[in-house]
Amino acid sequence: MFVICEICDITINTAEEYDRHISGKRHINHLNYYREKKQHAMCSVFVKGFPPKTTEWELKVYFNNFGPVDKVIFDKKDEKFPQYAIIEFKYDQAADNCLSYTHPHILNSTKLNVRKRDFKELSETPYFPWQKERGQQNHSWNQPGGVQHAHGPPQGQYDPCWDTQMGQADFHNPTGDPGYEPHWQMDGGYGSNMRNFDPNYDPNIYPDFQGGYGQQGQDKGQGNQGQQGQKGQPGIPGKGKKKKKKKGGGNPQPPDKPKIKREDVIDLPVTVEDFLQEMMSQTQKGIQAEMGVLADMIQVTSQELQSRYVICKTLEDVLSMFFPGVGINQFGSSVNGFGIKGCDMDVFIDLTNLGIPCRSQAIELPYVRDIRFLKKQKGPLGHDDIVKLMTIDKAKLILRILIEHAPACSDLTLIPSNRCPIVRFTHLESGIKCDLSIDNKLALQNTRLLQTLSLYDQRVRPIVYVVRYWAKLKGIAGNPRAGPCLSNYALTLMVIYYLQNVRPKVLPTVQEMADLCGNQRTIINRWDCSFVAAQFIPPTMNSQTTEDLLAGFFSFYAEFDFHTMGMIMRTGQPFAVSEAANLAIPMKMGFFNIQDPFVLDHNITFNINEKTRQLIAVEFRIAAAKAAKWKQPEKTASKTILDLFTEDVPEGVEFSDLTSKTSSGIQLGEYQFTLELKVDALDQGLIHTLRKTGNLQVAWCRKMCVFAYGILERVLMYDIEINKTNLTEPLPKSRYYDHKTKGRKRANSSESQEAENKKTKTGTTTEKPATSTEGQNSAKATVSVLAGPGMEAMPGEGTDSKSTEGAEAAAVQQEVPMDEENQTDYEDADVYLDMDIKIFCRTWAERKKFMAAFKARGYSDSVELEQAVSERLYYDHFKTAKSPIVEYNFIVKSIVAGSTASLLFTVQGDKDQKEFYCVYHYIKKFITKMADKHFT
Ligand code: UTP
Repeated sequence: MFVICEICDITINTAEEYDRHISGKRHINHLNYYREKKQHAMCSVFVKGFPPKTTEWELKVYFNNFGPVDKVIFDKKDEKFPQYAIIEFKYDQAADNCLSYTHPHILNSTKLNVRKRDFKELSETPYFPWQKERGQQNHSWNQPGGVQHAHGPPQGQYDPCWDTQMGQADFHNPTGDPGYEPHWQMDGGYGSNMRNFDPNYDPNIYPDFQGGYGQQGQDKGQGNQGQQGQKGQPGIPGKGKKKKKKKGGGNPQPPDKPKIKREDVIDLPVTVEDFLQEMMSQTQKGIQAEMGVLADMIQVTSQELQSRYVICKTLEDVLSMFFPGVGINQFGSSVNGFGIKGCDMDVFIDLTNLGIPCRSQAIELPYVRDIRFLKKQKGPLGHDDIVKLMTIDKAKLILRILIEHAPACSDLTLIPSNRCPIVRFTHLESGIKCDLSIDNKLALQNTRLLQTLSLYDQRVRPIVYVVRYWAKLKGIAGNPRAGPCLSNYALTLMVIYYLQNVRPKVLPTVQEMADLCGNQRTIINRWDCSFVAAQFIPPTMNSQTTEDLLAGFFSFYAEFDFHTMGMIMRTGQPFAVSEAANLAIPMKMGFFNIQDPFVLDHNITFNINEKTRQLIAVEFRIAAAKAAKWKQPEKTASKTILDLFTEDVPEGVEFSDLTSKTSSGIQLGEYQFTLELKVDALDQGLIHTLRKTGNLQVAWCRKMCVFAYGILERVLMYDIEINKTNLTEPLPKSRYYDHKTKGRKRANSSESQEAENKKTKTGTTTEKPATSTEGQNSAKATVSVLAGPGMEAMPGEGTDSKSTEGAEAAAVQQEVPMDEENQTDYEDADVYLDMDIKIFCRTWAERKKFMAAFKARGYSDSVELEQAVSERLYYDHFKTAKSPIVEYNFIVKSIVAGSTASLLFTVQGDKDQKEFYCVYHYIKKFITKMADKHFT
């Protein structure tokens, strides 16, 4: 449990920290400053209602009647016509005299309004949160951790689950035991070094979203302010300013100054140097303490939150003149509990519940002639006026209104996008950058989700803060100007995903949270966005320290293969990229794949390119190696999270991403993969057969190339058109499928075979090669293409002269000239095959199920089985698409060097095709698996 020090606006978690804090310089300075302010307030009165031209002298003269006046402070907002003044007397007795004066205060024939000066009283001694509510502040560390009452729903219609799921119950008590205390609130619980983390939701700290700006609660000035401070609190000297460097004197020597990567060019909330200095001044050492201090230093300040509130108020004032009933809602890090100093502000302008416009208050609209479907020149506008407007037009309108009516917003720009256009500006006074979006309820809901999870367990926030800081420093997240990198949203979800996967798990999955809602679903734009509030989730059984969890986070992702695996945030499960097509809702695959917890077709890391993925993987490995050292007993005394921020690379950390290099040292490009010859694993019979051709390596490449073709054409049933090849082996076509007539038939008629044969015989070198859609071969001939290691031994091997003939007859033209400009370097290779592939049927979907069913019927796990499953899927189960689902150009070429050989696959195509990446991965994995199974 923690106590709150209102004077310093922090929470304190342990008795030792408490003793150190109240005798510390910082607390004493703040306390003296507070007392001074209080003293001034007690000597002052607040005056309103004086005539506009009243002078300081006149006020001084009048109030001197009650005692000597020290100062008159006028309203600074309006210097010409001040609305109020503060009269500061020399003694508090004079203020008392003035306030107790029973007659009206009259100046220049005007009645003055005189009252006590507002001053927010703070508790001078730290207190337990519940003591504030009960008015008791007898601090005692021995008092057992009390249960803070769960809160009802934050203002507004936050989430149906808040209201209905648990009724008005104070606290969800899964045990039914009246003495039950939730795990995360018990005295001396884990993470006891955490500072400023309030595990309980308080709308004053984490304000509500709907109808609020994310800050309103602060006006209420309630207790239990946790970390964010409150309006009216006296300014704290030096707060937010760069801390002075302390000199050595008695403090342990700082570790060698770490080499910090790109710190100068990265916009960090505090420098590592400052953090180091702060750590030096702390008596408490250790990773957990450091995490707390760093989080404290970088988290968004209460002043910033206040400025954000002011910006929302400005927006509301301006926009409500044009859109009565407009909702201004903050989302993102300003309100999700993970805000960092200086972070941008995200605001959702909700135009869905506009009131009825009052015609008498007509207001000129800005230039609107180019806005389609808006014929009006005057406002205010109601729902009917804007319902037909496209989002981009709404954004345009808002932009122009702000340009004309919000001088506080500078550098106003529209960032167009079909999905989510943004109006961006910088608030002049505070310098805060702000992104306004429209129709973005989903972002509001995922912000609530993050907030809920941050409140559920107090270890989440410090981990996220440290990870955000580390990632920013390493240039892998939160720094979009430095190129494609992880968004902070994605990074935070990665922490959550890890905490869902650690055992016992720290956080529930989103699906579990949704299940707790029962029938009370929250559906936004067709997506199920339901989840319950933190207090309704059963407590975690995990009691690891934040230090362990942080180290675990790094090692978890150091081992995660981002290349082949993705993350499903909703269920907290990984998925194989090659199986992505089997996801319940298809999502565009990229180099880094994280499915949004709500919008299931949204890959939140689609922007990441190959290079960034490699950088991320390497940084995780380095961080994991450093964090692993924290566990070494000899390092215990000197362990520090500063290690994470240096550029040092621990010994043994592989710097390059292994997935992009083959074992024979071929550097692979974006869409390339290889099959490598592993002679030791080859069957002796096959080696013998291959050797007979002269060069085992080249012979293997030929065989493997034909095999790969067979997998694509026959087993996966793709439509293949050969552009060019130097293979002399037959590449027969296995089937006929007429997409135009939506036919589903195998062209086994003599007619088609004849036509095919004719074509082949008369084919000239300038003719387009035969395609698999143009004819088919006998099943036996096809099997010969698939022949694996024991060519001779495999069923249907081309010993049958008829079938061989058939295969040859149907073989494609081998030498098809290409345009000069299209010539590539593959023609130097011993073996090459250039083919266009069209995919019309998802023969990968539900494959596992059918495989299992076939196996149960006695099929052995073979190429034939795969083929049978595909055929079943192709002919009986799935409708084929009228146009290709995805199209590729595959170039396969051999790379032979000495005793090594590989087949390099280079895949090209329009990457904007929705399933380009995931089907590519599927094919890659499938071919590799089949080759491994049948050639090794
Ligand atoms: P950010 O990535 O900016 O996260 O996304 P943040 O937590 O606000 O971090 P900083 O400090 O500003 O960099 C802002 C919000 O945008 C929504 C989320 O609501 C997120 O909190 N968002 C972002 C999405 O809904 N989907 C995305 O893919 C990215």
